Parts: sequence; C-alpha cells; structure tokens
Amino acid sequence: METIDPPTPPAGPASRAGIPAAAACLRAGGLAVFPTETVYGLGAVFDNLPALARIFEIKNRPRFDPLIVHIADMAQLAGLAADIPPAALALAEKFWPGPLTMVLPKRACVPDLATAGMPSVALRMPRHPLALELIKNAGAPLAAPSANRFGGISPTTAAAARAELGTAVEIYLDGGPCAVGLESTVLSLLEPVPVLLRPGGITLEALTEIAGAVRLPAGDAEHRRLSPGGLPRHYAPATPLRLWQPPHPPPDAGRAALLTPFPAPGAEAFARAEILAPDGDLAAAAASFFAALRRLDAAGAPLIYAVLAPETGLGRAINDRLRRAAADGRAVYS
Ligand code: TXA
Ligand code: MG
Repeated sequence: METIDPPTPPAGPASRAGIPAAAACLRAGGLAVFPTETVYGLGAVFDNLPALARIFEIKNRPRFDPLIVHIADMAQLAGLAADIPPAALALAEKFWPGPLTMVLPKRACVPDLATAGMPSVALRMPRHPLALELIKNAGAPLAAPSANRFGGISPTTAAAARAELGTAVEIYLDGGPCAVGLESTVLSLLEPVPVLLRPGGITLEALTEIAGAVRLPAGDAEHRRLSPGGLPRHYAPATPLRLWQPPHPPPDAGRAALLTPFPAPGAEAFARAEILAPDGDLAAAAASFFAALRRLDAAGAPLIYAVLAPETGLGRAINDRLRRAAADGRAVYS
C-alpha cells in the first residue's frame, strides 16, 4: 500500500529567516512569541514599559507575578544583577544556556513592572538557538513569560502558542517542538542556602551537586512571599483534572480520559488514554506532557484523571504541574 508522509514542518533555517523581522518588532516596542527549549515565551525588550504592560494584558496576568528576563551572554547577567554570588556563577557555568532561572538582586535598570516591584530579578539564558539569536539581534535582554493565558497550559509548539494568544501578538517564531517541554527550574539565590521556587528542567539532584544544600520553601506562605506567581491552581486544563493512583479504575473511568507518564495497570478502563513515555523515560514524558494535556483537554471528556510520576528527577516537575492542575478543591481519588 502506498503511504503519503505528512508535510514536514519548516525547520531551523526557515524559522531563522524570521529573526530580523522579530528583532525589529521587539526593538520598536512590539511583542514576539519565540521558542525556548522549555516552552514558548511571549517576549518584549525588558525595559520597554508599554510592551511589558501589554504582556500582562494579553496574558491576563496579575501585575504581582514577576517575569523572567532572558539573556544571551554573561555580560547581560552583569548588567542586570546587582550581586552575583559564587554559587550563581558555578550554576551558570554548569547549566547555562539551559532550563535554569536564577533569582538575584536586581540593578536599577530593571523596571519594577518586570519584577512586580520585587528588589530581585529572575534571569535565564535559554538553550534554544533561535532564542539566543533573537536576544542578540534585538540587542537587549527579553522579558518573557510562557506564551499562554494566565493559569493555562504552557505551549510547547508554535501552533499551541498561536491557539493561546492568536492575533493579539504580531509575530510568532517557529522553532519546532520544545525539547525539554516543562518550564525552567526557578532557584532563588538571595540567601546563603538557595531556595527551589519551582521544580523544572534542571533537577534538584543536579542542582545540589553544584550548589550544595538547596532548600524548599518552608510552607505555602513563604513560597508565595518568595515567588508571588506560585499560585496553587496553575497550568490547568479547562476540563477538571483529578489525580488517580492505579490499579483500580475509578467508577467513571469509562467516560473519562487518562494522562499517565508510564503504562499503568487499569488504564484500559478509560475512554481515552495518553501514555507519555511507554518505555519509562522521564525526559520523554516531560517533553510530551503539555502537548498531551492540551490534546486531552480538547478531546471533550468531562474529566481527566492523571497518574503522578515517581517523585525523583524530572518527575518532581511533572508532579508539581499535575498537583497544581488538580488544585480545584476536589478530593484526590486514589
Ligand atoms: O521555562 C521558562 O521559565 C519559561 C520560558 C519562556 O523561559 N518561562 C516561564 O515564565 O515559565 P513564567 O512567567 O510563566 O514563570 C515565571 C516564574 C513565575 O512563577 C514567577 O513568579 C517567577 O518565575 N519569578 C519571576 N521573577 C521572580 C522573582 N524576582 N522572584 C521570585 N520569583 C520570580
Ligand atoms: Mg507560565
């Protein structure tokens, strides 16, 4: 039988052609959606106040939730951070460019609008070549949250970003599907012992190897104070999501969808199932997580059940997103 391959999406070079226009748009005070290795970002030049205000408006993001500023080299780090402790340099050396965001004291050039009035700034050097090239061409660091409406599912393809934000943004750069698929790890270096504010693409195990002790926030109140964006309900599909622990399917499995990192006994009872990594590879599960959640949300089931990953490595980041997506006051089904 003859098979017809689907058309190949435009790869690197085709998208690279969009960089001069995107950079010009940013320099002129516009916004651009661009790929990073974690998720797509909605970018503006970091100190352009009207453009920053538009990011908050388009995303419907509360002004108390600060943005990450993306840099392309270490000179930009020195230009934005007022103090760079040795641990930050060691972490940058090891993990940049890559999915690590470091919170450091800010210089006066970083506007309060970007940091939500905090005296610190979150900085990250992304690994995606188009992101780095865009920052260099724009000639300035780029403030960028994930390119989704506030509280929604982070986009890991240009098409998903467009589905979220549509014509509200003038430029979309397509860099293909995001390789990591979960947002960066956010680490505060404001105190001698770094604090993990958001688990993400760099694991806690890898961080402690370089930084020594890393602590978690002491509780919800401290977490909210240190990272105002860390609301309990976040990354949520429109469809209600509940956690499920195999193997006994819940009574309503027959009309529900299932999201599971690995094959799970009892999965066959569900109306539809997304198994993120049939071979048990956590990195593969992370890379396909948001796209699968998005597909299930669009599939029309009245309810999504999700199975937690092992609480180790990237599993912590996956579970953080699942627990937030499930945080709607319902009981955990086990
Ligand atoms: O992977 C990522 O980090 C993606 C890509 C686009 O780089 N960006 C991203 O941005 O996830 P966003 O805005 O969705 O999440 C930023 C997180 C929020 O939880 C925010 O509260 C926290 O970083 N944050 C930003 N600035 C901070 C600061 N000065 N202190 C503490 N937390 C901060
Ligand atoms: Mg986000």
